[in-house]
Amino acid sequence: MKNILITGGAGFIGSHVVRLFVNKYPEYQIYNLDKLTYAGNLENLKDIEQKPNYHFIKADICDFERVLQIFRDHKIEGVVHLAAESHVDRSIKDPFTFAKTNILGTLSLLQAAKECWKGNYEGKLFYHISTDEVYGALEADNPQGGSQSGGGPWGRDFFCEQTKYAPRSPYSASKASSDHFVRAFFDTYTLPTVITNCSNNFGPYQFPEKLIPLVINNIKHAKPIPVYGKGENVRDWLFVEDHARAIDIVFHSGQAGETYNIGGNNEWKNIDLIKQIIKITDRLLGNESGKSESLICFVTDRAGHDLRYAIDSSKLQDNLAWQPSSDFNAKLEETIRWYLDNEQWLNNITSGEYEKYYKQMYEER
Ligand code: NAD
Ligand code: DAU
Repeated sequence: MKNILITGGAGFIGSHVVRLFVNKYPEYQIYNLDKLTYAGNLENLKDIEQKPNYHFIKADICDFERVLQIFRDHKIEGVVHLAAESHVDRSIKDPFTFAKTNILGTLSLLQAAKECWKGNYEGKLFYHISTDEVYGALEADNPQGGSQSGGGPWGRDFFCEQTKYAPRSPYSASKASSDHFVRAFFDTYTLPTVITNCSNNFGPYQFPEKLIPLVINNIKHAKPIPVYGKGENVRDWLFVEDHARAIDIVFHSGQAGETYNIGGNNEWKNIDLIKQIIKITDRLLGNESGKSESLICFVTDRAGHDLRYAIDSSKLQDNLAWQPSSDFNAKLEETIRWYLDNEQWLNNITSGEYEKYYKQMYEER
């Protein structure tokens, strides 16, 4: 495979995947297809935008005719599909947009791959990036779980590839539906597909509506830190570059028709994680230790808030020799330093500057 279409490459995880593929595989042509919604930010890719094997295409995955033309024009052989509406809180307010992008957008890409490849599937792959949220919520029934520093496990059960789908938010319902379409195209048309379901990512370039960058930004500006409910919900956190590395491995060595779970083996209760971020950020800012804990503000819980996610990624670890980073606190500190050092990147988002600049540059053709 030489001509690779990466969708959603201007977003958080997508930008790390694009960077990895562009740098690691100079022999590939990488086409980053992105609509540049509020979550798409080409500043995330400034360091590689001049590389000869990188190409940006502003397009909507829901526009089937356009997508098909892109497949044909660029002789696309491999797809890494990340484009999506990704924020659970937004899905609660506006489920239609999530159904459209995540379900119909995925269907449009699958159909374009099928029509373009016409049964000639040798050396082709459609790789769909999905979430652990499709499996629903786990119990947090292990109160002794967790180390001093907060890491889990916080329960007895884990999501594995055989776990029944039980999505509970409009976001996860839309992602579950897209996963089913991907499998349906494998079963019905033998389209070579692979799916990974990953836990919560963190790292540079994450849109500051998500918990970790939001907390860092609020500490910096001494703004209240909103904790949903009692902060007892548990998430399994994975450094984004570990996810990108897993995507690279699965894209090149995963088996068509298979699903692989990806997780960090690193469960944290939200409140413990927030306190850990405060501890590190206060130190880096030269604040008195724990000063920013006074910013913690318990607010109304998210509707249908899933209690716990925890991933069993042994299939990926055993079959494809992938491992998450072992030192979470080092990666968390690296991430916090990145947000503190890249003030302009954050300010451009909060002021809306990032949208103006690139929207002018890439007007819809
Ligand atoms: P993000 O919101 O940061 O980025 C999404 C990108 O998709 C943006 O660049 C946006 O412009 C683009 N996009 C949205 N609608 C589009 C459309 N109609 N056509 C073309 N482009 C469109 O998302 P993220 O956090 O980087 O997540 C990427 C993928 O990984 C998603 O599919 C998400 O479900 C999945 N995922 C995310 C996480 C996580 O922790 N963030 C974990 C597991 C899986
Ligand atoms: O598990 C994978 C999923 O992780 C991805 O599929 C999603 O795209 C991604 O957004 C993420 O979903 P979450 O809902 O878990 O992430 P978020 O950062 O929104 O919230 C993390 C936890 O923190 C969650 O339990 C809700 C809580 N929270 C979040 C925000 C934004 C708060 O307590 N306060 C907040 O202000």
